[in-house]
Amino acid sequence: MKELIQDLVQIAGPSGYEADVREYVQKDLKGHVDEMKVDPLGNLITRKGPKDGSGLNVMLAAHLDEIGVIVTHLDDNGFARFTTVGGVFPRNTVGARVKFLNGTGGVIGMEPTGYSSVTPINQMYIDVGVTKKSEMPVKVGDVAAFERTFEDLGKRLVSKALDDRVGVAVLIEIMKQLKDTPHNVFGVFTVQEEVGVRGAAAAAYGVDPDLGIAIDVTLTGDTPKAKTMDVSLGKGPAIKVKDSGMISDPRVVAWMEAGAKRARIPYQKEILTGGSTDARAIQITREGVPAGCVSIPCRYVHSPSEMVDYKDVQDSVKLLVQLLKRPIKL
Ligand code: CO
Ligand code: ZN
Repeated sequence: MKELIQDLVQIAGPSGYEADVREYVQKDLKGHVDEMKVDPLGNLITRKGPKDGSGLNVMLAAHLDEIGVIVTHLDDNGFARFTTVGGVFPRNTVGARVKFLNGTGGVIGMEPTGYSSVTPINQMYIDVGVTKKSEMPVKVGDVAAFERTFEDLGKRLVSKALDDRVGVAVLIEIMKQLKDTPHNVFGVFTVQEEVGVRGAAAAAYGVDPDLGIAIDVTLTGDTPKAKTMDVSLGKGPAIKVKDSGMISDPRVVAWMEAGAKRARIPYQKEILTGGSTDARAIQITREGVPAGCVSIPCRYVHSPSEMVDYKDVQDSVKLLVQLLKRPIKL
């Protein structure tokens, strides 16, 4: 699965511009699912299992998009001003490299405003290596993703866009491995999560599931002087109890915990005080849907060097595959 993750993180797909990532997933899943379609917003909706069986309509969601930047202004000396697409932290941004969808590379610099405090994004610029506006290889409205190499540290993987390509990889594996499920399982690869779970909202309305589960990353409390959060890398998938956008259905939490115990998969309970996932949008679609989330613990989320533990990734696949093989009684 490491190769799959490496391939996925290397594709640029800022919110709204997920087409290349989506095409990769479509190719990779060909022949492994019963149906596949792209909805008008760009979500890739795959389906596997009996349509009128004894099971539930289950929607699994992992988002294709990643955070990025968009050009707002070009100045006379060839510097591009920009704003953010999704939750880009200014503190992670100076010195970062970006890659535009047209292939142009650039480095983010800042006005000399003092190096002890965090410079706001509007005092930063993208330097694409030219000196005149007329030479600029990018235009206002052009979008770029962060650029950083994938590192395999053995147990741990480091890359940009692990949020949420690692979830995309987990969902691909689940759809491949699921056989003989009694459920009608929709593997949905969503767009525009990072700008407010927009793709999942539309997809959930269309799928109209009985149960919704997001697969995404979460923060950890295992680094020096980190916030008191009981999630660590390497201690298993995190079963979300609450984040700032939703409260998981307690029946879904209990079902996931029981499944982890039965299969002897290590797990953690997640309470995230800032941020949310596609599960929020699924939960409040139509008349409401029981929803939860399996989170992959991740350090340095929304920086160009996010880190996950490979065993947590594998265990997330295991947990969901064995949960979906059996009848579900919430
Ligand atoms: Co994110
Ligand atoms: Zn995410």
